[in-house]
Amino acid sequence: MQFSTITAFLTLAMAGTGLAVPVDAQAIPAEALEARAPAQLIDLWGDANFLGLKYTGTAERGACINLPSNFASIITSGKARSGLKCTTWINTGCTGTGFSFISSAKFDSWIDNKSKSWKCIAL
Ligand SMILES: *[C@@H]1O[C@H](CO)[C@@H](O)[C@H](O)[C@H]1NC(C)=O
Repeated sequence: MQFSTITAFLTLAMAGTGLAVPVDAQAIPAEALEARAPAQLIDLWGDANFLGLKYTGTAERGACINLPSNFASIITSGKARSGLKCTTWINTGCTGTGFSFISSAKFDSWIDNKSKSWKCIAL
């Protein structure tokens, strides 16, 4: 008897909290929330065949990121994380000519050692 009274009380108490799910989180699809969260999107290397100095880029999908000075103008190969298309550009701010790849790429000679910014979007 006492046990079921406590159970009933706890059930009511939990219902009263509404489980505190923010209203805006309910309105946004899970996939969109995932896209907004900063995550590791791209790996870039200074040498061919994914060797040499390695840069891992963390950002929200669709955000343009300038490479730090120690990686600008040295990138020769790269990998986009699963489900993404990544692009690097010859100028900062994702401007100028861009080189896009899915999965992995050895950079063409015109972009080799010239990437200064990058962006990744969902496939
Ligand atoms: C890119 O840099 C590497 C290392 O300095 C060099 O061996 C390679 O020839 C460069 N590539 C181009 C296209 O200049």
